[in-house]
Amino acid sequence: MSPTTAAATSGLDTIPSLPTALACSGCGYRLPDNEPIRWRCPMSSAGDDTDHVLRRVIDSSRLSFPSEPDPNPFVRYRTLLHGYHVALAAGMSDGDVTQLIRRLDHAVAGVDGRGFEVTPFARADKLSEQLGLGPEGGIWVKDETGNVSGSHKGRHLFGVLLELELAGGDIGSSVHPLAIASCGNAALAAAVVARAAGRPLHVFIPPDADPAVVARLRALGTDPVVCEREPGTTGDPTYHRLREEIARGAIPFTCQGNLNGLAIEGGETLGWEMVSAALAKGEPLDHLVIQVGGGALASSCIQAFIEARDLSVLAALPRFHTVQTRGASPLARAHDLVAARLPEGADEAAIEVELARAATHRSEFMWPWETEPHSVAGGILDDETYDWLAVVRGMLLTGGHAVVVDEAALRDANQIARASTDIDVDHTGSAGLAGVIELLRRGEIGPDDRVAVIYTGIRRAAASDGEPS
Ligand SMILES: Cc1ncc(COP(=O)(O)O)c(C=O)c1O
Ligand SMILES: [Zn+2]
Repeated sequence: MSPTTAAATSGLDTIPSLPTALACSGCGYRLPDNEPIRWRCPMSSAGDDTDHVLRRVIDSSRLSFPSEPDPNPFVRYRTLLHGYHVALAAGMSDGDVTQLIRRLDHAVAGVDGRGFEVTPFARADKLSEQLGLGPEGGIWVKDETGNVSGSHKGRHLFGVLLELELAGGDIGSSVHPLAIASCGNAALAAAVVARAAGRPLHVFIPPDADPAVVARLRALGTDPVVCEREPGTTGDPTYHRLREEIARGAIPFTCQGNLNGLAIEGGETLGWEMVSAALAKGEPLDHLVIQVGGGALASSCIQAFIEARDLSVLAALPRFHTVQTRGASPLARAHDLVAARLPEGADEAAIEVELARAATHRSEFMWPWETEPHSVAGGILDDETYDWLAVVRGMLLTGGHAVVVDEAALRDANQIARASTDIDVDHTGSAGLAGVIELLRRGEIGPDDRVAVIYTGIRRAAASDGEPS
């Protein structure tokens, strides 16, 4: 939805509208420009079966894709952040916002030893050759293992923090505690970012959380709460506890778009960086293959590319493919259920009609995985893909596939990933490559195609046989 159109139809045309807005992709609600920011759609009510996800939308006629080569992605892409425009409308200058980003980033570096910097993205020559891709094509690896706290997760959370700080008022202060359910990369990133901002953080973890991660969480000043799985109930117990905390007033400091739609925007920096690199080298991508747990990573990347196309810097989108494990593949299940309703050769308009229906019939497509999942790639074991609809949309509109791989494929991909590059990526982090190998086998990716994968997280313990999310 165009923010200007929405403002005009909601009677707000007397207030100068912003070029960005927060709008719900499930019910169409749009937050008025003069109201404090929100992270969840206020129209959502229990059992309404609508896929409420509040997301930042842009008016592409009033923005341009940033080309300033600042090493900090949040500075580089600041004009695409909703908080930037909220802050400017409230009287801050571009320099003030830049300074605030740099100050917070400096604090992150003080906690973690590194701040946010554009991460490497390059053709992996040895890997490309090994997998049979020719000189015209190849596999490009985006390396997030050296990012803040060792994964891409901090991008989502630093983005949320910026939105909170730039909003000012109550939300911009420490009045509301932050809360997250995770025992892995997301919690570690949340703890670093929250500590840098001097904000209290509640962390809910499962009983089998890695002791090394728990120790690091404690060292970062949090007091993780262990949540047992109740017999006879489905769904993640840490997620249930998180929801209770949110009901008590905590701000979801999570990487799940349905709980905090603001998380998607920060994650977009990852996609924008890939777009900028492809533009600089004149090497547009044919495929982006992304591992999916809760769906925020894929949702962010897909939205980043779509916005770059809408801002006229990309002529065409890559095909978006996703990768899940046999242990839990609720996204592939949802994708197949939506696809089954489409007529043969459905065009974009027909796909959008079906997606709009799915947005108000969520339970037909997405529900928690029935059995407790296990995988060597523990970071993609979410029993629900919270941000599923945007990801299914990205796949359907570009002819992408929802790939499901087994444990052997995940292990092989990790071994190949580590042997062919000097990146010490973990199994979750290399799961996208397992999808590439499967798509090459099926002939969906050809030898002259340009393919991107994201090595999202670093291996934390050599002996570890599974990774928590
Ligand atoms: C290293 C890593 N990669 C990918 C993912 C999947 O991201 P998402 O849950 O946003 O789909 C996770 C999630 O925990 C992760 O830790
Ligand atoms: Zn809504």
